[in-house]
Amino acid sequence: MDHRNIVLTGFMGTGKTSVGRALARLLDRVFVDMDTWLEEREGMRLAEIFAQKGESYFREHESALCCELAAGENLVIATGGGALVSAENRKTFANAHVVCLDASVDEILRRLDGDDERPLLQGDKRTRVEALLQARGAAYAQIALHIPTDRQMPEQIAHAIVTHLAPREIRVQTPNGAYPIHLGRDLLDQLGDYCKPFALAQSCALVTNPTVRALYGDRAAEALERAGFEPTIVEIPDGEQYKNLDTVRGLYDQFIAAKLERRSAIFALGGGVIGDTAGFAAATFLRGVPFLQIPTTLLAIVDSSIGGKVAVDHPAGKNLIGAFKFPACVIADSSTLDTLPVEEFRAGMAEVIKHGVIGDSALFDELRKVGNARELKVGAETLERALRVKVGIVEQDPFEENIRAHLNLGHTFGQALETLAHFQMRHGYAVALGMACAARLAANLNWCHPQTRDEIIALLEKYELPTHLPREFSPAQMIAAMGADKKVKNKRVRFILPYEIGRVGVAENVAEDEVGRAIQESY
Ligand SMILES: NC(=O)c1ccc[n+]([C@@H]2O[C@H](COP(=O)([O-])OP(=O)(O)OC[C@H]3O[C@@H](n4cnc5c(N)ncnc54)[C@H](O)[C@@H]3O)[C@@H](O)[C@H]2O)c1
Ligand SMILES: [Zn+2]
Repeated sequence: MDHRNIVLTGFMGTGKTSVGRALARLLDRVFVDMDTWLEEREGMRLAEIFAQKGESYFREHESALCCELAAGENLVIATGGGALVSAENRKTFANAHVVCLDASVDEILRRLDGDDERPLLQGDKRTRVEALLQARGAAYAQIALHIPTDRQMPEQIAHAIVTHLAPREIRVQTPNGAYPIHLGRDLLDQLGDYCKPFALAQSCALVTNPTVRALYGDRAAEALERAGFEPTIVEIPDGEQYKNLDTVRGLYDQFIAAKLERRSAIFALGGGVIGDTAGFAAATFLRGVPFLQIPTTLLAIVDSSIGGKVAVDHPAGKNLIGAFKFPACVIADSSTLDTLPVEEFRAGMAEVIKHGVIGDSALFDELRKVGNARELKVGAETLERALRVKVGIVEQDPFEENIRAHLNLGHTFGQALETLAHFQMRHGYAVALGMACAARLAANLNWCHPQTRDEIIALLEKYELPTHLPREFSPAQMIAAMGADKKVKNKRVRFILPYEIGRVGVAENVAEDEVGRAIQESY
């Protein structure tokens, strides 16, 4: 855990004070309860301050206290329920870990039972709580990290907060040694620290696109500068259609202009397209320079940034020109997912679901049970579980000689679609469609029970992913496009098919009419 303050906010009755105390004990930090401090300074109870001096007087002093506390570090701070409704106060705490505690109206009323002093709750309590929650909802929604508290003890909630905030380190064994994946919130600001073990040159390149640069470019560059690096930000246009050799050539030109040397690192800041393109350039520039992945999409965090496959597309097919280039390190800052558009979140969920199907039935079940699929949030535990499936497979078969192929579930159909769509279809959507086709093919060939097929399709649909093919591509076109796929071996297309949730295999000799039938059934 880094030294930044942890600020707990949320509605009254969500447990800010008791959770704050438990959290401070757990982390051995000083605890500050803002309302108590304000009461002590004024020498009177909150209700009296409101009654005698008015709410705006209180809010002014509250804002001043926010500024005072924000200057410190290592504190656990419980704010008053209204403190972070103010955009200005939220800005004051921009560098802290801000956590919003949530509770249902019933739970709030239960916890406030017998507490009749609250100045903002005079009158019928339920009506007041509902109205205030409504009024503050939009402001609370601005806070990225929400922790549910219903039916939980303060200690349990404190543990949940630590789980969300403390970065995890997952090590990946490769034939070239092990590399770490750092996974957690707000890691971007410590980028420089994570680079220290690698004896890198001062000069380096931060490869990104305009979209990601606007959101995170400055923070990443500043973190590198603080650690003594001199990063050159190198932009490539946003989109899969730029994942090609022309873009790579442009990267080489800029690396040369930036005077990069053998120990200069290439940082890939962005989604899978940035990682694959910058990684291919890093694998080949000066016969290979150190490469660090900073994935900012769900898909890149759980899949493309780990495992060392890097590639660009050719008009004849996806990823046809590539290399194995293990990253020196992956810094996966999960708070970057807060800005991800809905469609990109869904695209990433396709690979998360894929990892459940190929190697973790418990992950699959967990996703089935998620009640808030439309909220489009994924917890730290789920992220780690999903990426561990890939790590496990890559460690067993780093160069895709056998079981690493399992990671291509849905990709034979999917990449044919991407090629036919001239790379205008999101990779994750193509994979979702491909998994639906593979599930149908598997059920037809008696690899899996029809129920398994239905469960896979239902989970994809739960996350609003497509499971029916666009009619514009005929079965004949799809089958022809599969011919250009790298998964072709001795002229035969291979499919990864599920036996059951959590276990897949390679189907080598699937008759073409069976493939056609599965495609037909998928429109
Ligand atoms: N190398 C591998 O092992 C591997 C595995 C899976 C997929 N891939 C490749 O990954 C690519 C797909 O990656 P992707 O889904 O990340 O797509 P992407 O890189 O195109 O990113 C999707 C969109 O999200 C934007 N974006 C990125 N981070 C953002 C953020 N934090 N907030 C807001 N917007 C953000 C991007 O600018 C882009 O417009 C494909 O080319 C696929 O072939 C590679
Ligand atoms: Zn994929």
